[in-house]
Amino acid sequence: MARGPDNNLQRWAGLMVLAALGTAVTATTNPGIVARITQKGLDYACQQGVAVLKKELEKIKIPDFSGSFKVKVIGKGQYNFYSMFIREFQLPSSQIKLLPNVGLRLIIENASIKISGKWKAKKNFIKASGNFDLSLEGISILSALKLSCNATTGHSTILCDSCSSHVNSAHIHISGSSLGWLIQLFHKKIESSLRNAMSSKICEVVRNSVTSKLQSFLQTLPVTAKLDNVAGVDYSLLAPPTVTAEILDVQLKGEFFRLGQRRPPPFAPPALTFPSDHDRMVYLGISDYFFNTAWLVYQQAGVLHLTVKDDMIPKESKIQLTTQFFGTLIPQVAKMFPNMKMQLFMSVSSPPYLTVHPAGMDLSPALDTQAFAVLPNSTLAPLFLLGVSTNISVKVDIKSKRIIGELKMDKLLLQLKHSDIGSFSVESLQNVMNFLLPTVVLPKVNARLQQGFPLPMPAHVQLLNLLLQSHQDFLLVGADVDYS
Ligand SMILES: *[C@@H]1O[C@H](CO)[C@@H](O)[C@H](O)[C@H]1NC(C)=O
Ligand SMILES: *[C@@H]1O[C@H](CO)[C@@H](O)[C@H](O)[C@H]1NC(C)=O
Ligand SMILES: *[C@@H]1O[C@H](CO)[C@@H](O)[C@H](O)[C@H]1NC(C)=O
Ligand SMILES: *[C@@H]1O[C@H](CO)[C@@H](O)[C@H](O)[C@H]1NC(C)=O
Repeated sequence: MARGPDNNLQRWAGLMVLAALGTAVTATTNPGIVARITQKGLDYACQQGVAVLKKELEKIKIPDFSGSFKVKVIGKGQYNFYSMFIREFQLPSSQIKLLPNVGLRLIIENASIKISGKWKAKKNFIKASGNFDLSLEGISILSALKLSCNATTGHSTILCDSCSSHVNSAHIHISGSSLGWLIQLFHKKIESSLRNAMSSKICEVVRNSVTSKLQSFLQTLPVTAKLDNVAGVDYSLLAPPTVTAEILDVQLKGEFFRLGQRRPPPFAPPALTFPSDHDRMVYLGISDYFFNTAWLVYQQAGVLHLTVKDDMIPKESKIQLTTQFFGTLIPQVAKMFPNMKMQLFMSVSSPPYLTVHPAGMDLSPALDTQAFAVLPNSTLAPLFLLGVSTNISVKVDIKSKRIIGELKMDKLLLQLKHSDIGSFSVESLQNVMNFLLPTVVLPKVNARLQQGFPLPMPAHVQLLNLLLQSHQDFLLVGADVDYS
């Protein structure tokens, strides 16, 4: 489990990223994705975050200090404390709690520090020196972290809103020669000086860690991800996170867009009625809007098409993409184009719309199928254009932090949209299409869907105890996270 501080930082930041990913736009639009972090998630984030903070606290430099003493009989002298360093900083009890309407509250109790250092004292010509150990105990640190977003750049912000620390007690143990007993006389003064010095340093470290580590890390996070040559996905923040006593909700845009030519989609995201579950660390509510912007972008980019050729059809099948075979169904095909291969160009004619509801997810795409005969000089001669509609049920799953899908097709409804070979009954093509779509076309679509789309999750995070539910208009993903 040996890890560098940067790994720790990433782990700490991991859940914060969900809380703060993003671009802020002022529009009061519904989110395409809601990311929810529960107290359970914060408990996990706390373990990681406090490990980072502990390392920073251990680096505190304690300034030298000096003073004078005056004792009856002996008279006046000087002492110095120097070369002090922190041997150990213990943080046995830390919590990160939700702080409604603000963000988070960091509560550290019963912390303790062991400090070692050197002392020297001087009284006229007498000099003495030695070592000392100091323990500070019952240290408490209380800090409020404000979560918000930068309206200009759109990035999220986290800042230390307040911090207070208190050191309950200090105990010094002086070792060394002759004058050591003298120092003991004013140990109270030394103890309180160190106590005050550390107390103010602690909050300085908390503030600096939040700004220099967490906030600057959030600044570097991209809010959009390029998926391929066609599309990107926007996971930017729509508003500052909503914090109640139970949950931290982050509203993300959750929208696909076309690279280089972004346009607002012609439909709006629905309002999501999020269930009150909070037994997983994180939840994502993924609206049908997210999926439908995907279909829209890919359809408008003209990439949702496939050319079916004869060699793609299983050899054992009696169906062939030839004019001879099609001539058995539509005689004029064989008459007009004897002994030729055929090709089917299939494309999605309008953006398919996905509906999410408690019973599952459905898609009703409209496909165009243009049939061609391949002439001896390879020119394609158009035969007919067929409209195909069907109902598809969509099964989704989460694999390696990606949403993957699988389509299952219901029966097909055919319609002849245009013919270059005279009229014929589309029923003659029903069996062929019933065979081709599920056996040749669907596996290709499913192969792409199995590659999936990335969820807005930081790197290094693993999802455990996955929960996947269909709700009205959105898909709910719940999970515990692990960074190992
Ligand atoms: C802090 O320490 C005191 C005394 O050792 C103990 O009674 C108390 O429960 C501790 N508090 C926490 C939060 O661990
Ligand atoms: C927003 O970000 C920009 C660029 O990083 C920065 O200059 C500006 O101060 C930020 N605004 C706020 C309110 O933090
Ligand atoms: C291919 O053959 C057809 C029919 O013989 C003809 O009409 C067409 O112009 C030819 N195309 C080319 C590119 O040679
Ligand atoms: C798809 O389902 C709807 C509603 O159940 C039905 O009206 C429609 O006819 C179906 N379409 C096809 C192609 O089966």
